[in-house]
Amino acid sequence: MTTATAPAALAAFDLSLSEDQLLVQKTARDWAQERLLPLAAEIDEKGAVPRELVKEMAELGFMGIDVPERWGGAGSDAVSYVLVMEEVNRACASTGVILGSHVSLACAPLLRYGTDAQKERFLAPLARGEKLGCFALSEPASGSDAAAMRTSARRQGDAWILNGTKNFITNGAFADVAIVFAQADAAKKHHGIVAFVVEKGAAGFTVGKLEKKLGIRGSDTAQLHFADCRVPDAQRLGAEGEGFKVALASLDGGRVGIAAQAVGIARACLEDSLAYAKERQAFGKPIAELQAIQAKLADMATEVDAARLLVWRAAALRDRGETYGPEAAMAKLFASDVAVRAARECVQIFGGYGYLRDFPAERHYRDAKITEIYEGTSEIMQLVIAEDMLGEPDQ
Ligand code: CAA
Repeated sequence: MTTATAPAALAAFDLSLSEDQLLVQKTARDWAQERLLPLAAEIDEKGAVPRELVKEMAELGFMGIDVPERWGGAGSDAVSYVLVMEEVNRACASTGVILGSHVSLACAPLLRYGTDAQKERFLAPLARGEKLGCFALSEPASGSDAAAMRTSARRQGDAWILNGTKNFITNGAFADVAIVFAQADAAKKHHGIVAFVVEKGAAGFTVGKLEKKLGIRGSDTAQLHFADCRVPDAQRLGAEGEGFKVALASLDGGRVGIAAQAVGIARACLEDSLAYAKERQAFGKPIAELQAIQAKLADMATEVDAARLLVWRAAALRDRGETYGPEAAMAKLFASDVAVRAARECVQIFGGYGYLRDFPAERHYRDAKITEIYEGTSEIMQLVIAEDMLGEPDQ
């Protein structure tokens, strides 16, 4: 039987939060509601998250939430990470993706695959939030089929020469450190891929075009160019040929984070809809008293809770040191679908006002969609879940 569907994986989950986790949740909720939420519309409008907010998240320990204190982090766990992600994204999904990419896709691979020297030099400043990280896997011609990357790595003495272009890189424009994947031996297909840690300012490494996006407009999405960029072998992350594994293992964690982001966005839709429905009068009473609206609110509340439970399960499995890839995929597949549906209903409940930029509903609608696309599309999530159930096809 498979990991994701075996009864054992579904049973005996203690879903109560520890005192530490509750404290993390409260800290994140208070900060997000008081500090971030009032700025969310402006962040979207201006297309930038103030650096000050990232600094504040660092001071609260969020930027290295699940990194051990030894390496500059807050020493919490993956459950704490998803609690923070839900709260931050409930307030502002642009800020949420900056945090998520940094924690899951830059800090996590360094923690798991880095040498002590790499952790000291790269992970600790990232986990303290002094530096910002990004994850450079996708390319103009390879997204879902990540192994088809064309960026090349050529060995030259004790270094590697990188050439190619990376696409859709969250935090790409401002990151100080990039986890970069390149093909060193195309004949070996995914076994030829190598991961590297590349610093901003490395000769031959430049930031290219900044994308204009439908949603999460306050986060930057950039192209990165590598032109004869020399990276010392000491900055290779993991073994030669192990890069694809580094990427997919990191994405398992990233997908739990994006699922938590989707829960945060869906919760924003629910809470905003609820508040509006209690205020808005139609047919002589608040629309919250109309059964058509109540049914929408009830479905949203049920789906938000169900999505959150899947997210917590995936995070708890990660904390237990168990495999959690299929559970992460289930959480992301379901939660992103919930977020998109909740956003659609939120706009509908707000009616004409839902279509205006003066109200948050249309922002949620635009922000929700990306959760079905980045860090693995919904179709790739279905593939991961199905492969886990069916096993490898017979050769
Ligand atoms: N962890 C570690 N290793 C894994 C793994 C995992 N979760 N899943 C698979 N692998 C290993 C396999 O064991 C296999 O290794 P061996 O050959 O040594 O046995 C190897 O990876 C290849 O596995 P598959 O044959 O299953 O690989 P595939 O080429 O068929 O692709 C895929 C699998 C699921 C489609 C994968 O390519 C995938 O997840 N694609 C989506 C990529 C993605 O999510 N991109 C988003 C980029 S990040 C982003 O969005 C930008 C941002 O900044 C936010």
